[in-house]
Amino acid sequence: MNTPIFLSPPDTGDAEQQAVARAVASGWAAPIGPELDQFERELATRVGVDHGVAVSSGTAALHLALLGVGARAGTRVITSTFTFAATANAIAYTGAEPVLVDCDPVTGNLDSDLVEGALAESQASGPSVAAVLAVDIYGKSADYSTLDAITKHYGVPLLADGAESLGAFHKGAPVGSLGRATAVSFNGNKIMTTSGGGMLLTDDAVLAAEARKRAAQSREPTDHYEHHEVGYNYRLSNVLAALGRAQLVRLDDMIARRRANREFYRKVVADFDGVSLLHADDDESDNCWLTSIVIDPALGIAPGAVRSHLAKKGIESRRLWKPLHRQLAFSTAHSIQSGAADALFATGLSLPSGSQLVPTQLDRIADSLHSVLGNARA
Ligand SMILES: Cc1ncc(COP(=O)(O)O)c(C=O)c1O
Repeated sequence: MNTPIFLSPPDTGDAEQQAVARAVASGWAAPIGPELDQFERELATRVGVDHGVAVSSGTAALHLALLGVGARAGTRVITSTFTFAATANAIAYTGAEPVLVDCDPVTGNLDSDLVEGALAESQASGPSVAAVLAVDIYGKSADYSTLDAITKHYGVPLLADGAESLGAFHKGAPVGSLGRATAVSFNGNKIMTTSGGGMLLTDDAVLAAEARKRAAQSREPTDHYEHHEVGYNYRLSNVLAALGRAQLVRLDDMIARRRANREFYRKVVADFDGVSLLHADDDESDNCWLTSIVIDPALGIAPGAVRSHLAKKGIESRRLWKPLHRQLAFSTAHSIQSGAADALFATGLSLPSGSQLVPTQLDRIADSLHSVLGNARA
């Protein structure tokens, strides 16, 4: 029996083990401590912002970013329909109404023209817009320069869901430095992990300080327990921060390995008519978190059938995001559609993309792709 090949498993080893042991031995097995302070400083420095607030998940970081710009009941937040539910869940936690805007058919990231239309529509008649929340899909950063100009015109803050894109760039600017604040994720399947965790990255000192306070139950700095607003227990453990620091040292290497996977798949896909890579125009600014293929419906092979075939061979793959406007949880949300997210859902599949994949595993995946897409061979 073939050993399973997972989509994007954690890549940890001796360095991470030693870091965790060091944190435990230090006695700081708590949600405060020197590893946490250092982790925040190191990641903020890497992306070139003044503040990092480490939290228990990317979703928590999103929630805090949204609260920080005033998202609440009676406001709207414009975001992409082509994303993981966490993006819209965080909006829902604030009481704000998500507006689900379709994506660009090629990048899968927010369609800027539709965002502009949504802002114009809200300005004319709707509730006030607390934020535009862009999402960097599968490790490719959204078009922040265009979105920045549009949101500035309407006086609306731009936030970034960079859960999937740590280490990527937009026009030379690192993810984490784009928009008013960025949420990144260190979930187990992400480009680097703390097993679970996230960070809010921003140059905005007030937003960072408020987020830090809310993440610790909104406790006031008094000698007794004083709380003026509802807070959350969102702090990251000092032990997990040590794990994150060890991963951060290896981030560039892990990105290079995922990039090598993409180049491998680029060659495999060249063998087939009607199969292409999503983000094929990668100009080295993506972090290559997941590499995905798009299958022309004319081939008559649905991505679900390819997924099942690979699964039988012990290879995990994953359909692209089912658009949020198709999810029961968000079916009543206002949405502005072009059909692009629906088309990506209908045609796309993410392939194993982990940074520990070895040539024999990649060859196994290529063989399995050939056996299922064989009829489509050029
Ligand atoms: C686009 C997107 N946003 C938000 C999240 C939430 O991050 P976390 O799982 O750390 O809460 C994820 C991943 O899980 C994601 O892929």
